[in-house]
Amino acid sequence: MSMTTQIHEKFVALFGEGGEQYAAAGRINLIGEHTDYNGGYVFPGAIDKGIVAEIKLNGTDKVRAFSIDCDEYVEFSFQNDEALPGQQWARYIFGVCREILKRGGKVAGFDTVFAGDVPLGAGLSSSAALESCYANAINELNGNGFDKFELAKIGQSTEHNYCGVKCGIMDQFASCFGKAGCLIRLNCKTLEYKYFPFDSKGYKVVLIDSCVKHKLASSAYNKRRESCENAAAAIRKNHPEVEFLSDAKRVWLDEVRDRIPEEDFLRAEYVIGEVQRVLDVCDALERGDYETVGEMMYQTHFGLSRLYEVSCEELDFLNKLARKMDVTGSRVMGGGFGGCTINLVKEELYEDFVNAAKEQFTARFGHEPKVYDVVVSDGARKL
Ligand code: GLA
Repeated sequence: MSMTTQIHEKFVALFGEGGEQYAAAGRINLIGEHTDYNGGYVFPGAIDKGIVAEIKLNGTDKVRAFSIDCDEYVEFSFQNDEALPGQQWARYIFGVCREILKRGGKVAGFDTVFAGDVPLGAGLSSSAALESCYANAINELNGNGFDKFELAKIGQSTEHNYCGVKCGIMDQFASCFGKAGCLIRLNCKTLEYKYFPFDSKGYKVVLIDSCVKHKLASSAYNKRRESCENAAAAIRKNHPEVEFLSDAKRVWLDEVRDRIPEEDFLRAEYVIGEVQRVLDVCDALERGDYETVGEMMYQTHFGLSRLYEVSCEELDFLNKLARKMDVTGSRVMGGGFGGCTINLVKEELYEDFVNAAKEQFTARFGHEPKVYDVVVSDGARKL
């Protein structure tokens, strides 16, 4: 049975007559990691895996929600923050309702059933898919008229205020603005963006999921953000034009080396390099120069592993293996602390690489990694 049929059948079984279906996607990011909250560039795209929700206004002031994947039913009101539900998945929906209300939008009570095929905790932004799906659906059903940027910000504020992650805008942006066949370069400071057709002829993009999830990932993520803000504040004393770390030149960072903890220096060194790498990758893509794209991905991995310290043994292992097998590009993707590597692989090498990754990773760590082929797809939409 397809996911949409399964959702519909469950909806009818629980609530009677069916509602409307909405979808939103998870994302990949070719390059530009941990740059979004530093006002830098990112280069994501929506993927063919995400969340689908059926939803219908129910004439009450409550949400009645069922998650197929968790096999769990929750009922909650959303008139004040104290009504925060206990289940993590329900908090995302609750947060979206609250953030819409805070912006002066209308939210009427609704019934909903949802399911997803975007793997959880793999660094593919299942949570952004969930937020964008509901932000878009609630926006339409209540005639609020928020634009896509506002919907993305509603998702981001949900993470900040109801889930404890001080994330940037990348995931929700990609999930709302995704377009089939295109990656999107976003300037996270000005919110200017540009679609780049991504037609990697002769190459495949494949994700290898280490299936490792680190428990303290969200507090470690918030700590990285603090380090960056610290470094930016120190640089700003000499160079007041530095609003975000991405505005700083590398030499300006060197000037404050003695004034900030070594850890903050290393984090900032990575970010400043990464901002430039996104631009270099965009130029290389326009020339069809995938070798340069791949080399930049390896540099990003090095930075994320050694300077930003968000990789782990399993991801470093996959990255090293890719290098050994002459894979064009490979790096840890998303926030890090587990999850996937994204790999740019020549088609003729694809089979060998995937097989070797499965075998060698399993031999080393005792569990098989998962492999996802990626199709760059549309973002949040009504089905
Ligand atoms: C997570 C966050 C994003 C971004 C990435 C790292 O996915 O939600 O905002 O910071 O990590 O690039």
